[in-house]
Amino acid sequence: VRELNHETITDAVVQSFAGTPDARLKEILTSLVTHLHDFAREVRLTEAEWSAGIDFLTRVGHMCNDKRQEFILLSDTLGLSMLVTAMNNPTAKGSTEATVFGPFHVAGAPHYKHGEDVSNGAVGTPCEVSGRVLALDGTPIPDATIEVWQADDDGLYDVQRPDLEQAQARGVLRSGSRGEFHFKSIVPSSYPIPHDGPVGDMLAATNRHPWRPAHLHFMISAPGYKTLVTHVFRSGDRYLESDAVFGVRSSLVADWNVGDDGICRLNYDFVLNSANAE
Ligand code: BEZ
Ligand code: FE
Repeated sequence: VRELNHETITDAVVQSFAGTPDARLKEILTSLVTHLHDFAREVRLTEAEWSAGIDFLTRVGHMCNDKRQEFILLSDTLGLSMLVTAMNNPTAKGSTEATVFGPFHVAGAPHYKHGEDVSNGAVGTPCEVSGRVLALDGTPIPDATIEVWQADDDGLYDVQRPDLEQAQARGVLRSGSRGEFHFKSIVPSSYPIPHDGPVGDMLAATNRHPWRPAHLHFMISAPGYKTLVTHVFRSGDRYLESDAVFGVRSSLVADWNVGDDGICRLNYDFVLNSANAE
Protein backbone atom coordinates (compact mmCIF):
# COMPACT_ATOMS: atom_id res chain seq x y z
CA VAL A 1 0.00 0.00 0.00
CA ARG A 2 1.41 3.36 -0.99
CA GLU A 3 1.29 5.80 1.90
CA LEU A 4 1.01 9.09 0.10
CA ASN A 5 1.35 12.38 1.94
CA HIS A 6 0.83 15.93 0.76
CA GLU A 7 4.37 16.01 -0.58
CA THR A 8 4.71 12.58 -2.23
CA ILE A 9 1.28 12.60 -3.89
CA THR A 10 2.57 14.88 -6.67
CA ASP A 11 5.10 12.32 -7.91
CA ALA A 12 2.48 9.57 -7.73
CA VAL A 13 0.08 11.52 -9.96
CA VAL A 14 2.88 12.45 -12.37
CA GLN A 15 3.88 8.76 -12.54
CA SER A 16 0.27 7.83 -13.30
CA PHE A 17 0.66 9.65 -16.62
CA ALA A 18 3.73 7.58 -17.61
CA GLY A 19 1.81 5.53 -20.16
CA THR A 20 0.18 8.50 -21.96
CA PRO A 21 0.75 7.83 -25.68
CA ASP A 22 0.46 11.49 -26.69
CA ALA A 23 3.75 13.07 -25.59
CA ARG A 24 2.40 16.62 -25.62
CA LEU A 25 -0.64 15.67 -23.52
CA LYS A 26 1.69 13.97 -21.06
CA GLU A 27 3.87 17.09 -20.85
CA ILE A 28 0.88 19.38 -20.30
CA LEU A 29 -0.78 17.18 -17.64
CA THR A 30 2.50 16.64 -15.79
CA SER A 31 3.20 20.37 -15.65
CA LEU A 32 -0.40 21.26 -14.79
CA VAL A 33 -0.55 18.83 -11.85
CA THR A 34 2.89 19.90 -10.59
CA HIS A 35 1.91 23.59 -10.61
CA LEU A 36 -1.56 22.94 -9.20
CA HIS A 37 -0.15 20.92 -6.29
CA ASP A 38 2.59 23.49 -5.65
CA PHE A 39 -0.08 26.20 -5.64
CA ALA A 40 -2.26 24.34 -3.11
CA ARG A 41 0.75 23.73 -0.86
CA GLU A 42 1.98 27.31 -1.20
CA VAL A 43 -1.31 28.92 -0.11
CA ARG A 44 -2.10 26.00 2.26
CA LEU A 45 -5.51 25.67 0.61
CA THR A 46 -8.25 24.82 3.15
CA GLU A 47 -11.11 22.43 2.41
CA ALA A 48 -13.59 25.32 2.52
CA GLU A 49 -11.50 27.25 0.00
CA TRP A 50 -11.18 24.21 -2.27
CA SER A 51 -14.97 23.85 -2.11
CA ALA A 52 -15.51 27.57 -2.84
CA GLY A 53 -13.18 27.23 -5.84
CA ILE A 54 -15.14 24.26 -7.19
CA ASP A 55 -18.42 26.19 -6.70
CA PHE A 56 -16.96 29.16 -8.56
CA LEU A 57 -15.82 27.04 -11.53
CA THR A 58 -19.20 25.29 -11.58
CA ARG A 59 -20.94 28.68 -11.83
CA VAL A 60 -18.54 29.65 -14.63
CA GLY A 61 -19.49 26.46 -16.51
CA HIS A 62 -23.20 27.07 -16.03
CA MET A 63 -22.77 30.51 -17.59
CA CYS A 64 -21.51 29.07 -20.88
CA ASN A 65 -23.80 28.67 -23.89
CA ASP A 66 -23.82 29.72 -27.56
CA LYS A 67 -24.14 33.42 -26.56
CA ARG A 68 -21.96 33.61 -23.49
CA GLN A 69 -18.56 32.05 -22.79
CA GLU A 70 -17.72 32.73 -19.15
CA PHE A 71 -14.63 30.47 -19.22
CA ILE A 72 -13.03 32.62 -21.93
CA LEU A 73 -13.98 35.72 -19.94
CA LEU A 74 -12.26 34.18 -16.91
CA SER A 75 -9.16 33.45 -18.98
CA ASP A 76 -9.28 37.02 -20.34
CA THR A 77 -9.59 38.68 -16.95
CA LEU A 78 -6.80 36.53 -15.49
CA GLY A 79 -4.51 37.64 -18.33
CA LEU A 80 -4.15 34.08 -19.66
CA SER A 81 -5.71 34.87 -23.05
CA MET A 82 -3.34 37.78 -23.65
CA LEU A 83 -0.37 35.70 -22.44
CA VAL A 84 -1.17 32.94 -24.94
CA THR A 85 -1.78 35.50 -27.72
CA ALA A 86 1.51 37.30 -27.05
CA MET A 87 3.49 34.05 -26.79
CA ASN A 88 2.13 32.67 -30.05
CA ASN A 89 2.31 35.90 -32.05
CA PRO A 90 5.84 37.18 -31.58
CA THR A 91 5.97 40.52 -33.32
CA ALA A 92 8.61 40.62 -36.02
CA LYS A 93 10.20 44.05 -36.15
CA GLY A 94 7.68 46.33 -37.82
CA SER A 95 4.70 43.95 -37.92
CA THR A 96 1.44 44.88 -36.20
CA GLU A 97 0.97 43.46 -32.72
CA ALA A 98 -1.82 40.98 -32.04
CA THR A 99 -4.26 41.21 -29.16
CA VAL A 100 -7.19 39.24 -27.71
CA PHE A 101 -9.92 37.95 -30.01
CA GLY A 102 -12.78 38.52 -27.56
CA PRO A 103 -16.24 36.91 -27.67
CA PHE A 104 -18.02 39.27 -30.08
CA HIS A 105 -16.69 38.20 -33.49
CA VAL A 106 -19.39 36.72 -35.74
CA ALA A 107 -18.49 34.59 -38.76
CA GLY A 108 -20.39 35.47 -41.92
CA ALA A 109 -20.71 39.23 -41.31
CA PRO A 110 -21.96 41.31 -44.29
CA HIS A 111 -19.50 42.26 -47.03
CA TYR A 112 -18.99 45.93 -47.87
CA LYS A 113 -17.34 47.82 -50.70
CA HIS A 114 -14.79 50.54 -50.11
CA GLY A 115 -16.41 53.69 -48.77
CA GLU A 116 -19.56 51.96 -47.52
CA ASP A 117 -20.90 52.34 -43.99
CA VAL A 118 -20.41 49.23 -41.85
CA SER A 119 -22.31 50.76 -38.90
CA ASN A 120 -25.55 49.87 -40.72
CA GLY A 121 -27.62 52.03 -38.37
CA ALA A 122 -25.69 51.53 -35.11
CA VAL A 123 -25.83 54.60 -32.86
CA GLY A 124 -22.70 56.70 -32.58
CA THR A 125 -20.62 59.56 -33.94
CA PRO A 126 -19.94 58.90 -37.63
CA CYS A 127 -16.32 58.47 -38.66
CA GLU A 128 -14.21 57.28 -41.58
CA VAL A 129 -11.56 54.61 -41.26
CA SER A 130 -8.78 54.09 -43.78
CA GLY A 131 -5.41 52.42 -44.03
CA ARG A 132 -3.33 49.87 -45.88
CA VAL A 133 -2.45 46.22 -45.46
CA LEU A 134 1.28 45.76 -45.98
CA ALA A 135 3.95 43.06 -45.84
CA LEU A 136 7.00 43.46 -43.59
CA ASP A 137 9.04 44.94 -46.47
CA GLY A 138 6.34 47.54 -47.13
CA THR A 139 4.87 45.79 -50.18
CA PRO A 140 1.10 46.33 -50.36
CA ILE A 141 -1.06 43.20 -49.90
CA PRO A 142 -4.00 43.38 -52.32
CA ASP A 143 -7.21 41.42 -51.80
CA ALA A 144 -6.62 40.78 -48.08
CA THR A 145 -9.80 39.94 -46.16
CA ILE A 146 -10.43 42.58 -43.51
CA GLU A 147 -13.04 41.85 -40.85
CA VAL A 148 -14.02 44.68 -38.50
CA TRP A 149 -16.33 44.72 -35.50
CA GLN A 150 -16.95 47.19 -32.70
CA ALA A 151 -19.25 48.39 -29.94
CA ASP A 152 -21.73 51.25 -30.45
CA ASP A 153 -22.23 54.41 -28.40
CA ASP A 154 -23.98 52.45 -25.64
CA GLY A 155 -20.94 50.19 -25.37
CA LEU A 156 -22.84 47.25 -26.88
CA TYR A 157 -22.06 44.91 -29.79
CA ASP A 158 -24.98 44.05 -32.06
CA VAL A 159 -25.00 40.46 -30.70
CA GLN A 160 -25.76 41.90 -27.24
CA ARG A 161 -29.06 43.30 -28.55
CA PRO A 162 -31.36 40.26 -28.77
CA ASP A 163 -34.06 42.13 -30.72
CA LEU A 164 -31.74 43.31 -33.49
CA GLU A 165 -32.21 41.43 -36.74
CA GLN A 166 -29.37 42.76 -38.89
CA ALA A 167 -25.63 42.93 -38.28
CA GLN A 168 -24.51 46.36 -37.10
CA ALA A 169 -21.03 47.84 -36.72
CA ARG A 170 -19.36 44.79 -38.22
CA GLY A 171 -18.39 43.85 -41.75
CA VAL A 172 -15.94 42.32 -44.16
CA LEU A 173 -13.93 44.23 -46.81
CA ARG A 174 -11.16 43.38 -49.26
CA SER A 175 -8.03 45.49 -49.60
CA GLY A 176 -7.55 47.14 -53.00
CA SER A 177 -4.66 46.79 -55.46
CA ARG A 178 -2.42 49.07 -53.33
CA GLY A 179 -3.38 47.26 -50.10
CA GLU A 180 -5.71 50.13 -49.26
CA PHE A 181 -9.10 50.04 -47.55
CA HIS A 182 -11.56 52.65 -46.34
CA PHE A 183 -15.00 52.46 -44.84
CA LYS A 184 -17.43 54.51 -42.78
CA SER A 185 -18.44 53.54 -39.27
CA ILE A 186 -19.00 55.10 -35.84
CA VAL A 187 -16.43 56.09 -33.24
CA PRO A 188 -16.09 53.15 -30.80
CA SER A 189 -16.90 53.61 -27.10
CA SER A 190 -15.35 52.10 -24.02
CA TYR A 191 -17.55 49.39 -22.53
CA PRO A 192 -17.72 47.00 -19.57
CA ILE A 193 -17.21 43.33 -20.35
CA PRO A 194 -20.18 41.19 -19.25
CA HIS A 195 -19.95 41.25 -15.45
CA ASP A 196 -23.27 39.85 -14.24
CA GLY A 197 -21.76 36.39 -13.62
CA PRO A 198 -19.03 34.78 -11.52
CA VAL A 199 -16.27 36.66 -13.37
CA GLY A 200 -18.01 39.93 -12.43
CA ASP A 201 -18.10 38.71 -8.81
CA MET A 202 -14.36 38.02 -8.98
CA LEU A 203 -13.73 41.53 -10.35
CA ALA A 204 -15.87 43.08 -7.59
CA ALA A 205 -14.20 41.00 -4.86
CA THR A 206 -10.81 42.28 -6.02
CA ASN A 207 -11.88 45.91 -6.47
CA ARG A 208 -11.33 45.68 -10.23
CA HIS A 209 -13.53 47.41 -12.79
CA PRO A 210 -14.89 45.56 -15.86
CA TRP A 211 -14.11 48.27 -18.47
CA ARG A 212 -12.24 47.98 -21.77
CA PRO A 213 -10.90 51.10 -23.48
CA ALA A 214 -12.65 51.98 -26.77
CA HIS A 215 -11.36 49.96 -29.70
CA LEU A 216 -12.06 48.71 -33.19
CA HIS A 217 -11.48 44.98 -33.77
CA PHE A 218 -9.69 43.77 -36.91
CA MET A 219 -8.99 40.30 -38.23
CA ILE A 220 -6.91 40.46 -41.42
CA SER A 221 -5.99 37.46 -43.51
CA ALA A 222 -4.30 36.94 -46.86
CA PRO A 223 -2.79 33.84 -48.52
CA GLY A 224 0.88 33.47 -47.55
CA TYR A 225 0.52 35.64 -44.42
CA LYS A 226 -0.19 34.88 -40.78
CA THR A 227 -3.72 35.98 -39.89
CA LEU A 228 -3.63 39.05 -37.68
CA VAL A 229 -6.20 39.42 -34.87
CA THR A 230 -5.90 42.81 -33.26
CA HIS A 231 -7.61 46.06 -32.22
CA VAL A 232 -6.94 49.73 -32.77
CA PHE A 233 -7.48 51.53 -29.46
CA ARG A 234 -8.68 55.12 -29.21
CA SER A 235 -6.07 57.47 -27.78
CA GLY A 236 -7.07 59.43 -24.67
CA ASP A 237 -9.41 56.73 -23.36
CA ARG A 238 -9.49 56.69 -19.55
CA TYR A 239 -9.18 52.88 -19.45
CA LEU A 240 -6.05 52.47 -21.60
CA GLU A 241 -3.94 51.82 -18.48
CA SER A 242 -6.40 49.46 -16.81
CA ASP A 243 -8.01 47.32 -19.55
CA ALA A 244 -9.98 44.56 -17.78
CA VAL A 245 -8.45 41.95 -20.14
CA PHE A 246 -4.87 43.36 -20.37
CA GLY A 247 -5.06 43.71 -24.17
CA VAL A 248 -3.61 47.20 -24.76
CA ARG A 249 -0.32 47.63 -26.64
CA SER A 250 0.95 51.19 -27.14
CA SER A 251 1.63 50.46 -30.82
CA LEU A 252 -2.12 49.84 -31.25
CA VAL A 253 -3.27 53.20 -29.82
CA ALA A 254 -4.28 55.74 -32.47
CA ASP A 255 -6.14 59.03 -32.90
CA TRP A 256 -9.62 59.46 -34.29
CA ASN A 257 -9.13 63.10 -35.42
CA VAL A 258 -11.80 65.59 -36.45
CA GLY A 259 -10.60 67.30 -39.67
CA ASP A 260 -11.25 70.87 -40.86
CA ASP A 261 -14.27 69.47 -42.71
CA GLY A 262 -15.79 68.28 -39.40
CA ILE A 263 -15.34 64.61 -40.30
CA CYS A 264 -13.79 62.31 -37.72
CA ARG A 265 -11.14 60.01 -39.20
CA LEU A 266 -8.87 57.15 -38.21
CA ASN A 267 -5.98 56.13 -40.46
CA TYR A 268 -4.03 53.00 -39.53
CA ASP A 269 -1.76 50.69 -41.54
CA PHE A 270 -1.47 46.98 -40.71
CA VAL A 271 1.72 45.01 -41.34
CA LEU A 272 1.34 41.21 -41.61
CA ASN A 273 3.94 38.57 -40.82
CA SER A 274 4.55 35.97 -43.49
CA ALA A 275 2.86 32.62 -42.83
CA ASN A 276 6.13 30.77 -42.31
CA ALA A 277 7.48 33.33 -39.79
CA GLU A 278 8.36 31.94 -36.33
C1 BEZ B 1 -13.76 42.40 -26.71
O1 BEZ B 1 -12.92 43.24 -26.93
O2 BEZ B 1 -14.70 42.33 -27.48
C2 BEZ B 1 -13.64 41.55 -25.47
C3 BEZ B 1 -12.46 40.92 -25.18
C4 BEZ B 1 -12.36 40.14 -24.04
C5 BEZ B 1 -13.46 39.99 -23.20
C6 BEZ B 1 -14.64 40.65 -23.49
C7 BEZ B 1 -14.75 41.44 -24.63
FE1 FE C 1 -14.26 44.56 -28.05
